[in-house]
Amino acid sequence: MKKILIGNWKMCDKSALDALHFLKDLPGAQKKDVRIAAPFTLIREMAGNSLKIRIGGQNMHSFGEGAFTGEISAKMLREAGADFVLLGHSERRHLLGETNEFIQGKVERALVEGLSFVLCVGETLEERESEETFDVIQTQLESAFDGISDDQLESCNALIAYEPVWAIGTGKSAEMDQIIKVHEFIKSKYDLPVLYGGSVNLENFQKLVGSRSIDGVLVGGASLGAATFSQMIQLLPEG
Ligand code: 13P
Repeated sequence: MKKILIGNWKMCDKSALDALHFLKDLPGAQKKDVRIAAPFTLIREMAGNSLKIRIGGQNMHSFGEGAFTGEISAKMLREAGADFVLLGHSERRHLLGETNEFIQGKVERALVEGLSFVLCVGETLEERESEETFDVIQTQLESAFDGISDDQLESCNALIAYEPVWAIGTGKSAEMDQIIKVHEFIKSKYDLPVLYGGSVNLENFQKLVGSRSIDGVLVGGASLGAATFSQMIQLLPEG
């Protein structure tokens, strides 16, 4: 399986022109599994790029349509050209109050609409320090996939991203042994690729993508600069 590099652009303020410029010169991207979770307003512009970088959304609602001001549906994302979506990112769980139940609804909706997704899970520092990491992750996974079969997950090419909350945007990536323990725990329960996210940068990139337990990385801040992202693409193993 190819290792996977996903850039999560979060609420960056790139213009459409900036985004197109970013996509101009990323050598080697065509041969690798590279994706960008873009702000909604950039998806249409970026989708279908000649580099074959897959473009996704960062969130969607669990309902197919309706009176949900400010929300976006799976169908709307697909219509804009997205071919995947991040679900349950920690910033949505912790800053915007998304619950495991809501996220389960989103997983179901993505499956109904045939939209691939990346389910994000991870513990807070407090939970790690009180040795609840594995329980928290198990609960997040079991709730999100409640009532959903392994076949359904595989058929939509679902991915799981382990992103410890305390490692996101802090410059303090988790240690390799911490990551591997959690990845192996997740892999013992689900036969899906598991990515790591949380302060991935050019210094730790190779070690992370070189590990057999890590199927790829989900990169926030360091994915915003074309030069750094381009170097990550070069360093991403092909096979
Ligand atoms: P940083 O790489 O900026 O820590 O963000 C990680 C993240 O949240 C990716 O989804």
